[in-house]
Amino acid sequence: MMIKPDGVRRGLVGEIVQRLEAKGLTLKAMKLMHIDTDLAGQHYREHRDKPFYGELIQFITSGPVVAMVVQGREATSVVRLLMGATDPAKAAPGTIRGDLALDLTQNVVHGSDSPESAASEIQLYFTSEELV
Ligand code: RTP
Ligand code: MG
Repeated sequence: MMIKPDGVRRGLVGEIVQRLEAKGLTLKAMKLMHIDTDLAGQHYREHRDKPFYGELIQFITSGPVVAMVVQGREATSVVRLLMGATDPAKAAPGTIRGDLALDLTQNVVHGSDSPESAASEIQLYFTSEELV
């Protein structure tokens, strides 16, 4: 999971981590980092042909993010439930995007969409020494 640059800029790190911990998920790794264009391209390669790709890369590299690994029962789907729909205008109240975002690009958080993509994204962002 990741807190995107807008979430860090707006001072929402504590609020978002609080929600994950309150749900019962466990932090396995967490770091504040800047995503360069190369890493952004790898992360969002599935979207490279989409019309919003350029805007997405510009946004995700626009400031520091908080990259996290969270563990728990059905963690991938639970995190996506906590995040809410991709478009914050359609995200249910009570979800992170539903409560804390309105813009479609600047939607505060990223979550891996399957256990398989979680595994590959963890490898992209963390060394094995960084996982507790
Ligand atoms: P994410 O990957 O960030 O967790 O979000 P997601 O799975 O809910 O959404 P996805 O379809 O993977 O889209 C990735 C991110 O691209 C931006 N987006 N912009 N302008 C647009 O039409 C548009 N659509 C998607 C959002 O920042 C979305 O989270
Ligand atoms: Mg996605």
